[in-house]
Amino acid sequence: MVSRVIPVDNFDLVIFGGTGDLARRKILPGLFRRYHSGQMPPEARIIGAARSEMDRKGYQAEVKAALEEFVPKGSRSDESIKGFLEGIDYVTIDAMGEGGWKELSAMLRPDVVRAFYFSVAPSLFGPLAERLHGHACAGPTCRIVVEKPFGRDLESAKALNATLRSHFDESQIYRIDHYLGKETVQNLMAVRFGNVLFEPLWNAQYIDHVQITVSESVGVDGRGAYYDKSGAMRDMVQNHLMQLLCLTAMEPPSRFDPDAVRDEKLKVIRALDPVKPEDIVRGQYTDPTKGRAYLEQVGDPDSRTESFIAMKLAISNWRWAGVPFFLRTGKRLKARYSEIAIVFKDAPHSIFGQRAGQHRNVLTIRLQPNEGMDLFVTIKEPGPGGMRLVDVPLDMSFAEALGPDAEDVPDAYERLIMDVIRGNQTLFMRGDEVEAAWAWTDPLINGWTERGDKPLPYETGSTGPEEAAMLLHRDGRRWREIRP
Ligand code: BG6
Repeated sequence: MVSRVIPVDNFDLVIFGGTGDLARRKILPGLFRRYHSGQMPPEARIIGAARSEMDRKGYQAEVKAALEEFVPKGSRSDESIKGFLEGIDYVTIDAMGEGGWKELSAMLRPDVVRAFYFSVAPSLFGPLAERLHGHACAGPTCRIVVEKPFGRDLESAKALNATLRSHFDESQIYRIDHYLGKETVQNLMAVRFGNVLFEPLWNAQYIDHVQITVSESVGVDGRGAYYDKSGAMRDMVQNHLMQLLCLTAMEPPSRFDPDAVRDEKLKVIRALDPVKPEDIVRGQYTDPTKGRAYLEQVGDPDSRTESFIAMKLAISNWRWAGVPFFLRTGKRLKARYSEIAIVFKDAPHSIFGQRAGQHRNVLTIRLQPNEGMDLFVTIKEPGPGGMRLVDVPLDMSFAEALGPDAEDVPDAYERLIMDVIRGNQTLFMRGDEVEAAWAWTDPLINGWTERGDKPLPYETGSTGPEEAAMLLHRDGRRWREIRP
């Protein structure tokens, strides 16, 4: 298969927070890979902007070090690093003052796409936006990129959106949820809406339930201070898992265009029922090794923040009436493993009798590791002994099926940044989506805070608290295995 890289237009991209962790780990390596693949035009320019006093050479050296640390050897060459660095510039900027703005304004070129990446604390969005306008850096066609967290509740999200919208049109605002940039997540749309096979079965008549698992083996480690103020609900469910749920449950949009897709996702969020307390299980990891338990890592022995959450959701519409959606995510679980599993109903009548056992078709869409899909189908177990049935996967590993092309799949950030340059908002969250997600999340968080619920302990390396298993067991269902 021949890889088709379609170059994007020439651009100036300013990264506010250009010396920060996200820039070093994700944004700059991602841009470099797009340069290396030939997608980024050689004349494109990336301008790091941060508080540190540094000149262009100094920043280029930092960028080079980041590329050497975060881009695998096989995906870079000295020559391409050198070429990429030629397009790198730097400006020392004062987000709250006037320093550096004239210089930045002078660096920007007319007639090329202009984008500003706000890789900084949300409290700086307003001051940055004001200065960008005040110094004529921002025009009606420029784009700004912002990162989660988009607020910590509905009120703060509304305030943040109001700040952004007082300076930019919604069509200029690119809110990144990196889960939307993952290859498999987009494949979910391709599978649903590019095949005739699945859509007729994609409803309450044929689907028993859906499971969405995002399991992480890492802990909160160095991020304890941030994480303890968020917890799994704010950090993962309100955004990443909600997006997976929307793409799984939404109606087919009429076109693959930004507003058509986002309108349909929004309808799913708005159709979510409130969740009863007994349908939510929250947990905190324990660990016998000193310094490894959640409470030790966040430095608060009384913390009631969850590092694990499992919940049973209901979507009130014709397609999904009566079909539970089970979500779970947590840190320090058995493995890094994420999938969406569509569990179909039993065949209406078994002609094979009791001995054949119970069998169900399951479609799983694996996000990580080893992106791919499995469709479990029921067949006859080979050999003598009568009609015994067994479920086997029709396994499609993208890496195997697509060969080298699949290995060179751009990472989520690369793809999303290129979409910003192309001006395609389909894989970015619209302000009303973010607000709707908080409107659903807030009462749940307020509920357990007011009740003073304590998260349940679970062991590092487990699948979460036992009670999470009960969420399904009590209806005669079970979680799928988290595979190491
Ligand atoms: C981030 C969360 O948004 O996503 C982290 O803040 C989490 O806590 C991460 O670890 C997971 O992303 P991925 O791509 O590794 O699944």
